Amino acid sequence: MFQEKGKQTELAVRFSTVAGGRDSSEATRDPRGFAVKFYTEDGNWDLVGNNLAVFFIRDAIKFPDFIHSQKPDPVTFERQVANRVFDFASQTPESMHMFNIVLSPRGIPASYRTQQGFGVNTYKWVNAQGDTKLVKYHWLPKQGVKSWTEEDAGVMQGRELGCHTRDLYEAIDRGDYPEYELHVQLMDDHDHPELDWDPLDDTKVWPENDFPLHKVGKMVLNRKPENFFAESEQIAFGTGVLVDGLDFSDDKMLVGRTFSYSDTQRHRVGPNYLQIPVNQAKNARVATNQRDGAMTYQVDQTGTNPSVNYEPSITGGLVEATTPGQDELGPEITGRLTRKRISQTNDYQQAGERYLLSDQWEKDELVSNWVGNLSQCDKPIQERMLWHLFMCEDELGQRVGEGLGMSADDVRNLEPLATQTLSEAELQRAANLGKNGSRDVTGLVMTHCVPNEHVAVN
Ligand code: HEM
Repeated sequence: MFQEKGKQTELAVRFSTVAGGRDSSEATRDPRGFAVKFYTEDGNWDLVGNNLAVFFIRDAIKFPDFIHSQKPDPVTFERQVANRVFDFASQTPESMHMFNIVLSPRGIPASYRTQQGFGVNTYKWVNAQGDTKLVKYHWLPKQGVKSWTEEDAGVMQGRELGCHTRDLYEAIDRGDYPEYELHVQLMDDHDHPELDWDPLDDTKVWPENDFPLHKVGKMVLNRKPENFFAESEQIAFGTGVLVDGLDFSDDKMLVGRTFSYSDTQRHRVGPNYLQIPVNQAKNARVATNQRDGAMTYQVDQTGTNPSVNYEPSITGGLVEATTPGQDELGPEITGRLTRKRISQTNDYQQAGERYLLSDQWEKDELVSNWVGNLSQCDKPIQERMLWHLFMCEDELGQRVGEGLGMSADDVRNLEPLATQTLSEAELQRAANLGKNGSRDVTGLVMTHCVPNEHVAVN
């Protein structure tokens, strides 16, 4: 797909929200799913990302807990309870970077056409010799980045729930096809002790001044689904839907995701979900020995003898592919497999830098949304969140603290969380809470810090 300039590949995309159900408002504050399925001639490749560049957690085992904190109270079914969301967040400092984006105007794109997209997790590219590079994917909208404030979203939500899908459909109908450039960042595939963050940590972005973007293609959305249920509802994306050369990395969150998607889809859509037209590898021959089960409506092409549904065999049937041609991929690794937390957590630096690199209207909105949410929370949750905010950046902590009627002095004596291992620099920051001065962002080009236009909803 990336081998030839000008090559066109058919694709399907689905934009979504996370916290609400299918009929929830599209104007809500929430990360947007940005999932793309490429029907390549080697089979399907899915890039299942979001519009906010990072994620709330870095350990896949915490995903169900994180999702529960966003979902309705299981007893009362009360929705979007700030106390649940920030109870979890207050004990999960790696979520600070993501919350500083979700609560900013980027958490409410003005339309799907004006949002960025990201693979978020770190993937791997493999060449014919088996050499590997770590890679991060970025979608940049040709329409520019535009967002709403909380107030804009409230007005829109009172009017209609499906504003973004309508906007997308109308643009396609008038021939104004939305376009997004695809860029990648590349990094050598070995340990990087020189970095103060882990390249396999999905709560981090890679500074673009050190890891520049390379354009590798563009996506043009020039047709709508013919039927919402058949295509948008039944489409099934997964991080394990890969073709040779476009691999996943040892990012343990990504490995967790890769188990999860197909597992869910066998339940949500059905065991033969891959046979539904929108999920088929339209441009490749599918040949496996997996078949039968409920709703089977086609059988994969087999070898010379359809009775032989096992391999190896001397009486016909499929023969295992010889590709990829190399047995060894990437660098040599020695060590023990462990279940330990990653050592370089650095949970506050990028979260603080992002605040500093935001436009003034984005900063103001972020502060107002922090205050609005935390004022609905119990005092101990407010205190811990304020401590985290000061750990990110003095000014952010001060402004949110003012809104809550609190200051650094009210939270200075909090010990780090029992689950946290702070670096020397972070321990000093904690000891000096609120008096650390601004972080130095000279020369830093941070993913996502492209201009973000405010489009008011009247
Ligand atoms: C360990 C962490 C994660 C797990 C276990 C997980 C699991 C899931 C599951 C089970 C679904 C529903 C799939 C279906 O029914 O078709 C889903 C949907 C989705 N996830 Fe994740 N997820 C994780 C993290 C992420 C992250 C970090 C991103 C963004 C980069 C993401 C993006 C998406 C998107 C875009 C969808 C909707 C796909 C669609 O449009 O159908 N997920 N996830």
